[in-house]
Amino acid sequence: MDNRPIGFLDSGVGGLTVVKELRRQLPHEEVIYIGDSARAPYGPRAAEEIRQYTWELVRFLQEKNVKMIVIACNTATAVAWEEIKEALDIPVLGVILPGASAALKANLKGTIGVIATEMTVASDIYRQKIQSLDPKAQVMSQPCPPFVPLVEANELQSSLAKKVVYDQLKDFQGKVSTLILGCTHYPLLRPVIQNALGPEVTLIDSGAECVRDISVLLNYFEINRGRDLGEQQHTFYTTGDVEPFTQLAQTWLEEAVRVEHIDL
Ligand code: DGL
Repeated sequence: MDNRPIGFLDSGVGGLTVVKELRRQLPHEEVIYIGDSARAPYGPRAAEEIRQYTWELVRFLQEKNVKMIVIACNTATAVAWEEIKEALDIPVLGVILPGASAALKANLKGTIGVIATEMTVASDIYRQKIQSLDPKAQVMSQPCPPFVPLVEANELQSSLAKKVVYDQLKDFQGKVSTLILGCTHYPLLRPVIQNALGPEVTLIDSGAECVRDISVLLNYFEINRGRDLGEQQHTFYTTGDVEPFTQLAQTWLEEAVRVEHIDL
């Protein structure tokens, strides 16, 4: 048993999609979250800059004495997961491998689509991971740069969101049977994305898939939080404004959350 919190990091609010799934699957665990909204989006930035910012978030979580770190950001996972997991003596999870293997399980025929940030698509990591598991798999990837700013602005169902999503996804229409939401911000746009592509396309939420791995590791290392401890004290930190973060987090997680501003 280990009663310390699990640390989550993202460039902004996207990692909340992973936390939501954690709250559903592992409701006894306690969460410390850091979102770097002041410097989001990470997707268009240079790899070295993303690497440096990700390490700053990791160090912040280490100071909070977390028992595990979840890099709840595909872009940061693509750039820095391997090196961070080697360097730390606590488990460090990324979101890409769970998404890649879930897509293969779901996709019995046809092409797997991947939408993600510019950096994640440029890294080609989804195609590599998918084809390392199944060399014959067909993969079609595309960056969707306007999606993260839409989500950070809480534009989730507006007509602007619908138009932008439809335009961005037009090349996928009729071409993919499975689509990986390869950025943790994108599940917040899920209903609009599903509408744009039609009900026959299976959407894979990499972040949600990663919660199954969190559960496996908690059991493997025997570091689950005790069930008799009562209410957790989840804390959410943002480098940006507290108000919009709180509003989005509370609507999305359907619970009251404590949010604090932090300068890194
Ligand atoms: N949520 C992030 C991801 O999963 C990053 C988005 C961004 O800041 O560009 O890739």
